[in-house]
Amino acid sequence: MKSLVFAANWKMNQAPADAALFMRTFLGQYTRQNDRRVLFFPPAVSLHAVVEAIHDRADLQAGVQNIHWEDSGAFTGELSAGLARGAGARYVLIGHSERRHLFGETEADTAKKVAAAVRAGLTPLICVGETLPQREAGETLAIIRRQLHAALEGQDAGVVASVLVAYEPVWAIGTGRTATPPDAAEAHAALKAELRELGGGERSGAVPVLYGGSVNRSNVAGLLAVDDVDGVLVGGASLDAEQWLAIARS
Ligand code: PGA
Repeated sequence: MKSLVFAANWKMNQAPADAALFMRTFLGQYTRQNDRRVLFFPPAVSLHAVVEAIHDRADLQAGVQNIHWEDSGAFTGELSAGLARGAGARYVLIGHSERRHLFGETEADTAKKVAAAVRAGLTPLICVGETLPQREAGETLAIIRRQLHAALEGQDAGVVASVLVAYEPVWAIGTGRTATPPDAAEAHAALKAELRELGGGERSGAVPVLYGGSVNRSNVAGLLAVDDVDGVLVGGASLDAEQWLAIARS
């Protein structure tokens, strides 16, 4: 049986009071299932509300959506991995397509952020994905393997085996379009191959690779049925507690 990961990326939504209300609704109806973890990525100001709500549930964890690569210092407006860890985060999204495409995050930045996360004891959830022109040019597998390779450049096998990865085609994020199960299967298999190569073995081949991009309660089961899809990273559909419950139970 697969060990599944369901990750909610709330992006720039859910103030602390909204997050607390969401968590009350969710926790009131979600019973622990041993085959899965549920991760929440609230905006940083709402992290505390989520951490407080889930405090003793090992199957539920919280993370932040971004970090700076320096450990501390004069970086106004930035959040370090250590600060996030101190506030209760256990995970961090790195290389989300919105960071790459709206905020100019480079592949070199993702490598520095992975290193910073590891130093502080946060688990990176590394996001990769091709744009529509790249897909149409037949570059999908080369692009996503390169992004993953760059983010994990210089890390030892132990680190490679400890991360999570998400395949999120840029054209599928927030658009209502999803990769077909065969497309997802091909991309996920390529990422698993890259992970085995980077980590030099079976342990890194067992790293969970999630699918993301317009996942909802209607299409989630079909995506999870794909062999190498170990979970989902969900934006829009994770903002509604009832829909998120339906997804996290699928
Ligand atoms: P979406 O976002 O589910 O709204 O497409 C996914 C993501 O950006 O992680």
